[in-house]
Amino acid sequence: MKIFLDTASLKEIREAATLGVVDGVTTNPSLLAKEQGEPEEILREICDLVDGPISAEVVATDAAGMIREGKHWASLHENITVKVPCTVAGIQATKALSGAGHKVNVTLIFSPTQALIAAKAGATFVSPFVGRLDDIATPGMEMVADIVRIFANYDYPTEVLAASLRHPMHVLEAARMGAHVGTMPVAVFHQLLKHPLTDLGLERFLADWEKAKKELGAKAR
Ligand code: G3P
Repeated sequence: MKIFLDTASLKEIREAATLGVVDGVTTNPSLLAKEQGEPEEILREICDLVDGPISAEVVATDAAGMIREGKHWASLHENITVKVPCTVAGIQATKALSGAGHKVNVTLIFSPTQALIAAKAGATFVSPFVGRLDDIATPGMEMVADIVRIFANYDYPTEVLAASLRHPMHVLEAARMGAHVGTMPVAVFHQLLKHPLTDLGLERFLADWEKAKKELGAKAR
């Protein structure tokens, strides 16, 4: 599964990218609004930090406006993926932008049928929001499983980008379901690697090593 970071924080992206396993970044207007600086400049810097798809979302609500904004975002860097909401205008814009050779991420997906329409319009990615469905007592992960199955049934090239992942279990489940991508906050990304038994085990290995070295030193004297 590809791992994307769901943030516009350059500091967070810079740190996480040092592990060498980050495949892309997703931003949205809310995430960019939290950062200081011009969104364009932030997006350009993100493209310099991570060599993979970087989602930049349109804020227009009509198709013509989305296409105009999408083309502008795409002109910033070859790795920019234009993110559009799953509305009628968004699907029209997806068709036009993907037809013009741009990568498109259709976002705010809350049902498998929305994903089906987005795939037919030529989306590169669809972003089902898992956590926000869970929030309203609807199993978000079932939607991911359905979308993965539907795309496999018809060999659609569109990738399922599981979004609104809030904790490591969401990531684990998305991987089990066969989602192509999981996008997550940096805190969740770090939680994927962390295990107390790894820390404890390492502590013991090092303590045993030091003890053995001291004993060898004492024998040699
Ligand atoms: O990628 C979508 C994400 O930013 C939404 O996450 O936690 O606000 O539902 P959340």
